[in-house]
Amino acid sequence: MTVIGTGYLGATHAACMAELGHDVLGVDVDPAKIEALSDGRVPFFEPGLPEVLERTMESGRLRFTTDYAEAAGHATVHFLAVGTPQQRGSYAADLTYVHAVLDDLVPRLEGRHLVLGKSTVPVGTAVELQERVDALAAEAGRGAEVEIAWNPEFLREGYAVKDTITPDRIVVGHRTDRPSTAVETAREIYARPLDEGTPFFEMNLPTAELVKVSANAFLATKISFINAVSEICEATGADVTRLADAIGVDDRIGRKFLGAGLGFGGGCLPKDIRAFMARAGELGVDQALTFLREVDAINQRRRERVVELTRELTGGRLIGRRVCVLGAAFKPNSDDVRDSPALNVAGSLSLAGASVSVYDPQAMANAARVFPTLGYAGSVEEALQGAEVVVLATEWRQFRDLDPAATGELVDERVIIDARNVLDADAWRAEGWTVAALGRALN
Ligand SMILES: NC(=O)c1ccc[n+]([C@@H]2O[C@H](COP(=O)([O-])OP(=O)(O)OC[C@H]3O[C@@H](n4cnc5c(N)ncnc54)[C@H](O)[C@@H]3O)[C@@H](O)[C@H]2O)c1
Repeated sequence: MTVIGTGYLGATHAACMAELGHDVLGVDVDPAKIEALSDGRVPFFEPGLPEVLERTMESGRLRFTTDYAEAAGHATVHFLAVGTPQQRGSYAADLTYVHAVLDDLVPRLEGRHLVLGKSTVPVGTAVELQERVDALAAEAGRGAEVEIAWNPEFLREGYAVKDTITPDRIVVGHRTDRPSTAVETAREIYARPLDEGTPFFEMNLPTAELVKVSANAFLATKISFINAVSEICEATGADVTRLADAIGVDDRIGRKFLGAGLGFGGGCLPKDIRAFMARAGELGVDQALTFLREVDAINQRRRERVVELTRELTGGRLIGRRVCVLGAAFKPNSDDVRDSPALNVAGSLSLAGASVSVYDPQAMANAARVFPTLGYAGSVEEALQGAEVVVLATEWRQFRDLDPAATGELVDERVIIDARNVLDADAWRAEGWTVAALGRALN
């Protein structure tokens, strides 16, 4: 098989498919990425992935290339894993990269091929792509027969290897107007997880596309729900963390994803809910998803709230104040800074005139690329040195485990905003800290 697009999703998928015993060729247009992967280096942080990459490359089952001719000759099954970012100036998904893959691949194919889409795409995309590949194959005149099917991906960054090798579900959407080999092929590819009891869902193409975006819309809504309640808690003296514990024991609700705080970010949730709204608009059913606009707005407001809280704690003026921001990645165990709440807060504080010092255990290089004007510290201690306010913005274990007494020796003022509600506020207050948090009246 080939895996086309070797970013967070694709590199993981390629290595894990080789781990499952398949002969895999990873394809990307970024020569630097392919060079790194070919040298056995994962160009991003994902726990466990370097080991799988090393093992599978040594076994000879995994290689990488930038050459589409090689890809066309290597396999008859092609996973499509390129990015589908938000379009500039619009909420809609940008399908340029998806189209580019098929435009480069299909004219080179001969015989029967199956393309399994893993990228997150708006509902209706696969049907359009089938028309596109039919036209491309006819034009090329090599007699190729290419089927488009969709196999959405649910992996979580930070747990990507486990989620790919032992997924919690496998979803395959296939065409229903012509014969399809997608289910049979997918069952063969995923034989090991299926043998281990992973649920397998076979469905039509629009349902498979919608499963993915609905799942993300639900998760985003759950986070924004608790963050909306958090705003009410702030206005009333209630404690959102106690509230979440108490409503979360109801198994119809569940405690997961009720962590009130700085909200969601990353390369998926924000752009996926926006693309979902945009697609609903194109379909004439925009009212069905107008609530997602509110989900997005609640999420953005949490970032503004943390900036406001920092301003309040510096006596109303941020200009020249030394603020330490702990975290730049959008979540722990990842170096992904796409739409990162932590980096967004750090950037806003800096633009408001604060002198910001950022530290993240893994995301420093990515953060510096996106936001070069921020101050980046070489260690957590260096970032804390002389701070007048500390903002815990990404809940890395290293930050959760900070010792309040030792940390207090480094800063100028013992003032911390626990923007992820992960610290033991009593322990910090016992060391003389002023602790502020979202959705809790602590002081
Ligand atoms: N990252 C995740 O956790 C995750 C989880 C589930 C679904 N997804 C979805 O997977 C898709 C990819 O996400 P990602 O986070 O891996 O993005 P990414 O930006 O990390 O990777 C995309 C890769 O595609 C490559 N690419 C672009 N055009 C190409 C082309 N024409 N041919 C070959 N390669 C090309 C890029 O160079 C890049 O390496 C998106 O649709 C995303 O929504 C991501």
